[in-house]
Amino acid sequence: MSEEKRKLIIDTDTASDDAVAIIMALREPSVEVLALTVVNGNIPLKLATRNCLIAVEQAGTYTPPVYVGHDRPLMREAVTAEACHGQDGLGDVGYPDPKLTTEKEHAVDAIIRILEENPAGTIELVTLGPLTNIAAAFMRAPETMKKLKQIIIMGGQLYQPGNWSVTSEFNIFVDAEACDVVLRGGVPFLISPVELCYGDCGFDPQERAEIAALSPTGKFAIDCNRAVVEFVKTRYGRNNLQLADPSAMGVALWPDIRKEVTECFIAVELGGKYCYGQMIFDYKNHLKLPANGAVCLSIDVPLYKKRLKEILK
Ligand code: RIB
Ligand code: CA
Repeated sequence: MSEEKRKLIIDTDTASDDAVAIIMALREPSVEVLALTVVNGNIPLKLATRNCLIAVEQAGTYTPPVYVGHDRPLMREAVTAEACHGQDGLGDVGYPDPKLTTEKEHAVDAIIRILEENPAGTIELVTLGPLTNIAAAFMRAPETMKKLKQIIIMGGQLYQPGNWSVTSEFNIFVDAEACDVVLRGGVPFLISPVELCYGDCGFDPQERAEIAALSPTGKFAIDCNRAVVEFVKTRYGRNNLQLADPSAMGVALWPDIRKEVTECFIAVELGGKYCYGQMIFDYKNHLKLPANGAVCLSIDVPLYKKRLKEILK
């Protein structure tokens, strides 16, 4: 008897690294993506939606419905990251408009409806952008959201300074209030922090050339991230492509790449003058507070890269 597929919903602010993560999920045979929901984040909502449809087409497998969500954070003005992903969010390569279109239903309504239609504990949520849509769903239907089996969140910084403010990672910095709502929502969560794409998890020029030569999809994965390469060069002086969302998607899709996962007290800073959006991972238990979630501290990099290359072939 064939094993049942895991069922995923993916929430995404689709820029170039989200696009690769979406392709990974749509090509992974052990999961079925029930829906993609789009949120403002790396780029404005309209472009993120366009890019999400392009990513689904690039995957070349099946076409889950795409729902459009919130165009700004819960309580703040939108922050975007064209400097990192290009004006169009896909490296300004000039990809043609997608043929696929979106659904009419709002992303938040769709998330709640899909959970209502399915048995508790059967759907997992992977988030690749700010948590605005997900927080809105929690505020509207907290009991329905508890039907989620788990949430895997790309967000937060463990050790190093933030990648968007002194202390904070982009997805969380954009809408820390939303992150707070989600962390306190009573659904098990696993965080994939930004450090999981740094150092040897990144792709040097030789690895990038190898991936681009694998297939047209491999070429898309590298080309659409060309602005990220320039951003990392300028900001950090390294010729290394860092892909936060694919690392998180790897953590979500392939549990065997998770090397160290620890359960601990996890929270987000909402006040302060300099630290808005900083995440707290108390894995040394300084606070003596009960664990409320889990964080992946490291991954098996060679295995992750092997899988990524296989899936992009
Ligand atoms: O900090 C990582 C975030 O910005 C993710 O949303 C990813 O897409 C990156 O560009
Ligand atoms: Ca993203």
